[in-house]
Amino acid sequence: MSETPIVYVTREIPEVGLERLRERYEVVVWDEKLPPEKSHIETRLAELDAEGLVCLLSDDIDADVLAASPDLEAVCTFSVGYDHIDLAAAAERGIAVGHTPGVLTETTADLAWALLMTCARRTVEGHDYVEAGEWGTWGPRLLTGPDVHGATLGVVGLGNIGTAVARRAAGFEMDVLYTARSRKPEREGELAEFGVDASYVERDDLLAESDFVSLHVPLTAETAGLIGEDELRRMPDEAVLVNTSRGEVVDTDALDSALDEGWITRAGLDVTDPEPLPADHPIMRHAPERLVVTPHVGSASIGTRNRMAEMIAENLTAGIDGEPLPNSALRDAGLE
Ligand code: DGY
Repeated sequence: MSETPIVYVTREIPEVGLERLRERYEVVVWDEKLPPEKSHIETRLAELDAEGLVCLLSDDIDADVLAASPDLEAVCTFSVGYDHIDLAAAAERGIAVGHTPGVLTETTADLAWALLMTCARRTVEGHDYVEAGEWGTWGPRLLTGPDVHGATLGVVGLGNIGTAVARRAAGFEMDVLYTARSRKPEREGELAEFGVDASYVERDDLLAESDFVSLHVPLTAETAGLIGEDELRRMPDEAVLVNTSRGEVVDTDALDSALDEGWITRAGLDVTDPEPLPADHPIMRHAPERLVVTPHVGSASIGTRNRMAEMIAENLTAGIDGEPLPNSALRDAGLE
């Protein structure tokens, strides 16, 4: 083992984070545009006797990866979501796992709203229309869509991001419904301070009564396929679905049928299943009239990404030093 601990980083994260890591560690970065294969991560961890691993949400960090370097002390993901890491295996091996909650809440909520507004007011279609040279005159029927102000927003999952999305509804004088595993009086109180009167309803009622449904649940065995054919059929024909959580929460084939057959009007997705979504995936034939897709950029503001990179360094340092992590995924998942 080298005297300076070695940290393997599976992609170029913002420089501010790499600089912080380089102050204490020998940092080896995979600098290709596309992610390394899982087998490559395993090989590099083993070759380097790495003590730290910085990964992304697109890396599959399973028990084999976690076992690759006997010296591995800490794995830190450049994301709040940790569904790509086998937490149980990490806990069993005594490997600390860090993530980046909190810092990306507002930025991701902004993106959910960007998709909601884009779907309602058809801005991508508008741009394409102008670019295609079709803008011959002002049109009374041109690109009309539903009003956002005064509509009903349904938030599925009232955690940090769901609450931040609901808070923004105040400016649009919307009615806000939410559903979660149980009622959340504290969150309701938090929202009330901003003038948002959020009502807890059962999921089926939320789907039936909302003009805009925005998904904010983590990916778990319980939430995979949460929005399938039954759920999409429950939504009003004019409804818009926004997903900035995880692609697997929505059944892609069911959504495809929903857009085809008009069970809902439009969907805005920042996350997809599969992800990345190939340009020739069947569902892309709906874009942009019925579907707007962004490439998983919920947290992609410069400030937020820089702060995430700093948090990675803070988490990793604590993990390698055997200290409690400022943001432990094991703790947040109830495994610590
Ligand atoms: C995360 O960090 O888990 C988000 O999905 C990034 O946008």
